[in-house]
Amino acid sequence: MSSSSTTQTIRPARTLQGSLTLPGDKSISHRYAMLAGFAEGTTRLSNFSTGADPHSSLACMEALGATVVHKEDKTIEITGTGGRFQEPAASLDCGNSGSTMRMLAGLIAPHHHTFTLIGDHSLTLRPMERIRKPLSQMGAKIDLVEGHAPVTIHGGPLRAIDFDTPIPSAQVKTAVLFAGLQANGTTSLTESIRTRDHSEHALRAFGATLNRTIAAAGDAAKLSIPGNQTLKAIDATIPGDISSAAFFLCAALLFPDSNLILDGVGMNPTRASLLDVITALGGKIKVLNVEEHHGELVGTVQVNVSPNGLRGMHISGALAAQIIDELPVLAAIAPYTSDGITIRDAKELRVKESDRIALVAKNLRAMGAELTEHEDGLVIPGNQRLHGAQIDSGTDHRIAMAFSIAALRATGDTEIHGAESAAISFPEFFTHLDNLCQR
Ligand code: S3P
Repeated sequence: MSSSSTTQTIRPARTLQGSLTLPGDKSISHRYAMLAGFAEGTTRLSNFSTGADPHSSLACMEALGATVVHKEDKTIEITGTGGRFQEPAASLDCGNSGSTMRMLAGLIAPHHHTFTLIGDHSLTLRPMERIRKPLSQMGAKIDLVEGHAPVTIHGGPLRAIDFDTPIPSAQVKTAVLFAGLQANGTTSLTESIRTRDHSEHALRAFGATLNRTIAAAGDAAKLSIPGNQTLKAIDATIPGDISSAAFFLCAALLFPDSNLILDGVGMNPTRASLLDVITALGGKIKVLNVEEHHGELVGTVQVNVSPNGLRGMHISGALAAQIIDELPVLAAIAPYTSDGITIRDAKELRVKESDRIALVAKNLRAMGAELTEHEDGLVIPGNQRLHGAQIDSGTDHRIAMAFSIAALRATGDTEIHGAESAAISFPEFFTHLDNLCQR
């Protein structure tokens, strides 16, 4: 991604109409890229994410010895290393991607080399102790700089552990599963709040054995993965990214006569709580043609809004963890609801690509909104009118896109600074927004 900052002007819209097919899910693209690079044989992936982040994962896999070919028909072919990574000639550059740094750490730690993982300024501010802890319990020697990147891994054979995840994080879970796949013995991991399960589906798709058990109703789930497994290449089409869809779904909620159809969207139940939230807010969702590919559900989603407008809601507990990436856009439309939106138990938002609680608060206030900021969330009253403003995206893709949506119902134009950051997950965002909005 270019380091030069661009500003995008968003004009208010009258309605949102049309249909869209979304680029592949970012979370699934990362996992398929990594497991394809580890597996034996050539994996063929269609609809790979166009975002910069999963391309950081692809570049790291190349540095580890996989071959990546971008075909003319936009499919990507990855020939894996058959479980034998080479020591990279230089540091592994994870760019802006926490997923790359954390999940890759687990995949490479069992290999007898020294690896250094680096990232951009934002990634270097993000906590890495959460992966150092389980991986060092397994026997890897990992050096951090005050809990942060650069992450230096002195890899080697690992032993299985039983790990209780202290924070709900699919990235940490994945790091442990990817290391456990190659350890001696069976690694188990308990998560009390269920996080996205793309790694579990992806591991099974590539041929791994993995079990999920719940001892008694209400107990935490336990994942067990035997070690010393090998993986086989797959052919797959990656479902459209529901977290990218979220921006347009929320935009459609802002206008009573909007009509939006999204084809081929990932509907994995651990990600699709967003659709329940949209329904609770007053959106009318129809899901058509659901299919399953490699354990992932994919469908067509149609959204309209109830003529009574948007209600508010309270988001906390497990729900906050499950829609963590969608909270910025939900917060950005909260002033337009009748009863407001409260978000609690979402402290993790402070350690994403930016401090998303602080930046949402700052930018909503710049648009004239009133709200209360808490350490773990925001209380945003409804029935507020917003005006166009200068938005500081903090070069965080989800902040740039969330406030582009808030701007559609504001009076006057809004300028999004650092708009190029949208390309981290969704380079086509502004073009699609322009095509779908009627002014
Ligand atoms: C992701 C997990 C979440 C999410 C991130 C992608 C993943 O992070 O916020 O954008 O692909 O596993 P955490 O694992 O830190 O909760």
